[in-house]
Amino acid sequence: MNTSVSVDLGDRSYDIHIGRHLLGRAGSLVGPLLGASRVFVVTDENLARLHLGSLTASLEAAGIDHACAVLPPGEATKSFGELERLLDLMLAARCERSTPIVALGGGVIGDLAGFAASILLRGVPFIQVPTTLLAQVDSSVGGKTAINAARGKNLVGSFYQPRLVLADVDALATLPEREVKSGYAEVVKYGLIDDAPFFAWLETNGAALLGGDAECRAVAVTACCRAKARIVAADEREEGGRVVLNLGHTFAHALETEAGFGTLLTHGEAVSLGLVFAFDLSVRLGLCPPADLERLVAHLAALAMPVRLPPLPGRLWQSERLLAHFASDKKVKDGRVPFVLAKRIGQSFLCREVPPVTVRAVLDDAIRTAAEGGAP
Ligand SMILES: NC(=O)c1ccc[n+]([C@@H]2O[C@H](COP(=O)([O-])OP(=O)(O)OC[C@H]3O[C@@H](n4cnc5c(N)ncnc54)[C@H](O)[C@@H]3O)[C@@H](O)[C@H]2O)c1
Ligand SMILES: [Zn+2]
Repeated sequence: MNTSVSVDLGDRSYDIHIGRHLLGRAGSLVGPLLGASRVFVVTDENLARLHLGSLTASLEAAGIDHACAVLPPGEATKSFGELERLLDLMLAARCERSTPIVALGGGVIGDLAGFAASILLRGVPFIQVPTTLLAQVDSSVGGKTAINAARGKNLVGSFYQPRLVLADVDALATLPEREVKSGYAEVVKYGLIDDAPFFAWLETNGAALLGGDAECRAVAVTACCRAKARIVAADEREEGGRVVLNLGHTFAHALETEAGFGTLLTHGEAVSLGLVFAFDLSVRLGLCPPADLERLVAHLAALAMPVRLPPLPGRLWQSERLLAHFASDKKVKDGRVPFVLAKRIGQSFLCREVPPVTVRAVLDDAIRTAAEGGAP
């Protein structure tokens, strides 16, 4: 199944193509759209080994010349140092205002290359070729670009929309299982935000999706991109409705900060826990039926997704420390921490008046359950 979803943003509108064998068709899709005879590809060492060849072969077949920058994989690449190095490579390759930058990779490459494209020569065309499940359902769509600063993640960046997104689900075949599961947490998020039928579809098809079924993956990526496109079109700069995409993320960011952004807890694993905590909080506030929390936990647990805090090496989780991390959340306004809560599976909304004592109770109970090694 090959589909396309358009992101409707007036003169900055663009298409997301989703499906199989798209890397091999990249040249014929990019050429006519941008009239480019040359592109600059940004990727990382893993992708250079696995998928860069298919992309460059299709560019060559379409008569498109290319230069490439191959960067080290990992979050540390979203840095000022790598940005400067990348911009220098682009200038050395004589990129012009009309030379498209193509990001082949996960969210790290997409965020860095997108930011570079937004500032190189005051902005050059940008194309996303996301290769992780997270990037296909989330980071490649919507135009947020960023690098990390010493004082926190994603603190320096721009809103800069791509001209085209190519989400080739076949590229996911080489993605390590842990990365697939991390992306799956974001997939579940879309069902919880406003699409209960999609959540039910995931209950039936989630195992096949995680197991590598390309058709299932294409269906899910399409559903997520449709949802994200709709939300972004209504609120491009996160001044209102786009904030629901943050479901589970206030908790997730605090957990990631505490776990040190390392291999202990990936972003997606933190999101899986964050979704559970957001529903737990909603239940405690009397907003959501307990059965919906149970259904969410059952779905995640059935797929061996995280529903319980992992042990921290040499120390314990402390709710006090997690609460302190909320204060540095980008969405805090006038000292209040906003949470996306749920009335049901598929009905999420932003709440700015959450009593800190209830948040603390959610964390205390999660920490106690983890320490006891008991059921979630
Ligand atoms: N801009 C946004 O809206 C947005 C949204 C969510 C997340 N993000 C950002 O995305 C980043 C995380 O992205 P990610 O989860 O894609 O991680 P990532 O880009 O670090 O990729 C994860 C790992 O998988 C490897 N990899 C990628 N594709 C592969 C493939 N097809 N086969 C084998 N290996 C492959 C990479 O080399 C890397 O080692 C974070 O920096 C986060 O801040 C941005
Ligand atoms: Zn996320």
